Amino acid sequence: MEFDTVIHDGTVSTATDTFKADIGIANGRIAAIAEHLSGGAQRIDAGGRLVLPGGIEAHAHIAQESSSGVMSADDYLSGSISAAFGGNSSFIPFAAQQRGQSIDDVIATYDARGARSVLDYSYHLIISDPTPEVLHEQLPRAFARGITSFKVFMTYDLMNIGDAGMLDILTVARQHGAITMVHAENNDMVKWMNKRLADGGHTAPKFHAVSRPELAEEEAINRAISLAKLVDAPLFIVHVSTAGGAQIVQREILSGTRLFAETCPQYLALTRDDLDRPGMEGAKFICSPPLRDTATQDALWKHVQSGTFTSVSSDHAPYRYDETGKFLNGFDAPYPKISNGMPGIAARLPYLFSEGVVKGRISLQQFVALSSTNAARTFGMTNKGSIAPGMDADIAIWDPETSRTMSLADQHDNMDYTPFEGMELTGVPETVLNRGAFVTHKGKLIAQEGQGKFVARAPMEMGPRKYLAKERNPLNNFGVDI
Ligand code: URP
Ligand code: ZN
Ligand code: ZN
Ligand code: ZN
Repeated sequence: MEFDTVIHDGTVSTATDTFKADIGIANGRIAAIAEHLSGGAQRIDAGGRLVLPGGIEAHAHIAQESSSGVMSADDYLSGSISAAFGGNSSFIPFAAQQRGQSIDDVIATYDARGARSVLDYSYHLIISDPTPEVLHEQLPRAFARGITSFKVFMTYDLMNIGDAGMLDILTVARQHGAITMVHAENNDMVKWMNKRLADGGHTAPKFHAVSRPELAEEEAINRAISLAKLVDAPLFIVHVSTAGGAQIVQREILSGTRLFAETCPQYLALTRDDLDRPGMEGAKFICSPPLRDTATQDALWKHVQSGTFTSVSSDHAPYRYDETGKFLNGFDAPYPKISNGMPGIAARLPYLFSEGVVKGRISLQQFVALSSTNAARTFGMTNKGSIAPGMDADIAIWDPETSRTMSLADQHDNMDYTPFEGMELTGVPETVLNRGAFVTHKGKLIAQEGQGKFVARAPMEMGPRKYLAKERNPLNNFGVDI
C-alpha cells in the first residue's frame, strides 16, 4: 500500500491501549497500524515519543461576542493556531445567537469566521432566544447541517432563557438527537449577592468570587438535571467548579441519568486567592463560575480520576488585560463590569498531561479519553478522537519528558497574559497533524490559514422515553403521552 506519510517508531496511545507501532496515512486517514511500515512519501520519525489522538477542544469562545458584546481577542486563525500549539487537532467553539437574531444568520456569520481556521472545527450553538421559529424551523436546519449541540445559560440577564425555555430546547434536542450543554449558575442568587456587595461598596475583583457562591452552581446543576430528566434529554454540564456540583453529577450518572460534564484546568490549578492580587491584577482571573479553593481542587481531581467528567476543557474566553477586553468599562470598573473569562486553549493539555499523567494522577489512556476520545463520541465527531484504521489522521506527537516554564510566548494566542504563567510543566506537544497534514511540526507553525474544514457531526442516540412515557408512568400521566 502507498502511504502519503508514515509515522515511524511511535508509542501510540488510545483511550484503551498503549503500544509501539508505525502509522501509515493515506488521503488524510489512518490506513494502517503495524509494528513496522516501510515506504511513505514522507516519513516522520517519532523516536519513541508519544503518538496520541489530537486533542479536541470542546469548550472555547473564538471570534465570539460575550453576552455584554465584547469580542474575544482570538479569531479562528489565532485561536486555532493556539489550540494546535496546545496539542489539539480540532475544536468546537461556540456560535452565539444574539437576541432577535435568526440561527441561519448566526451560522452564516460563524461560517465566515470559521473559514480562517487551521484546524477542523464545528460549533455548539448558544441559544439565547428560543422563539417558536428558532425551535421548530431554524434549529432543525442547523441539525441537518451537522450542528448537533447547543449551549444554554441559566445566568446572565441577556442570556438566561428560564426553565421553560430550557424545557423547550431540551425537547427539540431530544427530537433531533442533539445534546444540550448548560452553564449552571442561579441567576437570582448571583444578582442578589451583587446587590449586597455593591451596597457595601465591595467592588474589587476578589468579590467576584463572593458574588457567585458554590450553592448557586449546585442549585442550578440540580435544576438543570431535573429539567433534562423530565423530558428524557441528555445534558452536558459545562465548567463544573464545585465539589458539590461534581458530586451531584456523579450521583446522577450512577443512578442511570444520561449526563455528561466537564471541568477546566483553571478550577484544578488556581484559587480565588488569585483574584486578590495587587491592584487590578485579580481581573485576569475573573471567570464564571469563579475560582474556588484548594479543597475544591482536590475534590475535582478525584472526580477527574474516577470518571465523573467526560472531558477537561479549557473554556478559553480570551479578553485582554486592557481597554479592549477586561477593562472595556474602564480600568477601575467594579467587578461586575469586568469581562468574564480567561485564556487557556494552549495550556489545557500540557497542564492535564503534566499534573495528571506525569504526576501519576491519571493514566495515559485517561488523558486521551479526557482530552479527545470522549469529546469526539459525545459530540458526534465519528471520524476523530482515536487512532484506528479509517479514522481521520488527527494526531499529536508529544515529547513526554521535556519540562518548561509556562509563558505567554508558548500560548501563540492574541492575549497579553496567561493565567498559567510561571507554572513548571513536563511534556510538550511538538507536532500536530490534522487529516494527515502538518499543522505544527517540531514546535513550528506549518499550516496555512483556512486549512481546517467544517465537520458535520452525527446525531446522538437518544434511548427510550422514560419519565413522561405513558407505558412507564400510566398513573402520573393518566396514560397520556406528553
Ligand atoms: O467566564 C467565562 N467562562 N466566560 C465565558 C463564557 C462562559 O460562560 O463560558
Ligand atoms: Zn518503523
Ligand atoms: Zn459558561
Ligand atoms: Zn465558556
